[in-house]
Amino acid sequence: MASVTELSLEHLPLESQELADNPLPYFEAARAKHPWLAASNLGWVITKYQAMKDILQRDEDLSFPGDATVEIMHAKDTGWGQFTTDMMLSRDEPAHGRLRGSVAEAFTPRAVNRMRELMRKTVSALLDEWAPKGGFEFTEFASRFPVRVMFGLIGADPSVVDDVKDSLEIHGGSYGMDPTRMPIIEAAYQHLWGFVDGLIKERGPNGGHDDLLDDLIAANTNGGLTDVELRQMLIFLFGAGYDTSKNQLTLMTHSLLARPDLWARCAEDRPYCDKVVEEGFRYRSPSNTYRSILRDFEYRGVEFPAGGMLIFPLTQAGRDPESFPNPETFDPDRKQSDRHLAFGRGMHLCLGQFLARANLEEGLHLIAQRIQRPKLAGEVTWRPFPGTWGIKTLPITFEPGPRRTEDTSASVAAE
Ligand code: HEM
Repeated sequence: MASVTELSLEHLPLESQELADNPLPYFEAARAKHPWLAASNLGWVITKYQAMKDILQRDEDLSFPGDATVEIMHAKDTGWGQFTTDMMLSRDEPAHGRLRGSVAEAFTPRAVNRMRELMRKTVSALLDEWAPKGGFEFTEFASRFPVRVMFGLIGADPSVVDDVKDSLEIHGGSYGMDPTRMPIIEAAYQHLWGFVDGLIKERGPNGGHDDLLDDLIAANTNGGLTDVELRQMLIFLFGAGYDTSKNQLTLMTHSLLARPDLWARCAEDRPYCDKVVEEGFRYRSPSNTYRSILRDFEYRGVEFPAGGMLIFPLTQAGRDPESFPNPETFDPDRKQSDRHLAFGRGMHLCLGQFLARANLEEGLHLIAQRIQRPKLAGEVTWRPFPGTWGIKTLPITFEPGPRRTEDTSASVAAE
């Protein structure tokens, strides 16, 4: 048995733009030195699919490092710092279960399927405005779609999305561990707080809307959520529903620019979009996550001491050749694309996974109809690797396609 501190490991420059631009060669080099571990300035990095999957499930030994993040960001007395310590992802049982239980009903596959019509209407309305342009910055378009559906799910008016989009964007990048950004992160957080506070006050305690906001306000009235937790929960859900989904839609579109055959098929074949979306998650995804080690533990003959930090680059897990043959080939017919780790593992497994998938499945079909033969029209630039990774700019040109009459009708059964 060896302590992780004694191993000779490749050092991964996770904060460097070169790694963010093209991470795969760095991970290959790391695996050549040690089969599943590397070092970095942020902590030990798990570099293999199977090890990420196994270790991430050790909820009793690990915890999302809310407190450590606040320390790194020098954010102890800020609203964002309080949020980062208190949010569902940072909590262990029983607080985690109480918070997750207060919203879980809204995110079941059944609840999400009832929203598919809203997804189709939302993306069609956006495409009416954007498709005639013949070219645009794709991230700008993507930043308007899943978040509108999220607003609809919670019970907020989607027309106010533009007022908070910039703050959601900053909030989404806040786990990049760059303390120099703290003043703008805190300002964005305060803006979001004011926004959700307004929503709650405007709605009032009487209910009657039969949506998630009513349920959360009722949980607050019944003592299940404090006033602060209610507001933090709304900020967490808006944030979780914004940045990851927008990034995944952009990553998937970027992958498909190289596969015009698949893009054209997605426009005609709605069920095929489900396979493309799942393979898209395997091929590239947006969330890298962290854990602090609560108790000493051992994995495959390596001892990890309490107090250390682990990094799980989930975004790269699907490219591990030992778990996915020919991982560089984007193949929607591949068996078991859905073994990917894009949504994590263990007790914090993404609550919004069915919503995220449904948005992409419905969205891709309609986007491919209206944005025909898309081509890259400029430079692709990448977000920092730690936290939510993804594409910063994806300029495209395309041939506008007409709105089809069945756009908002049930091309897929709602239940
Ligand atoms: C492409 C889209 C998405 C991806 C890739 C994604 C990824 C993830 C990952 C990897 C985790 C686990 C993090 C960890 O264990 O450290 C997570 C947690 C979570 N996600 Fe998502 N997510 C997506 C969309 C959404 C959406 C649309 C929502 C809806 C609000 C959402 C809500 C949540 C929540 C509430 C948690 C925390 C669960 C808990 O602590 O129990 N996610 N997500």
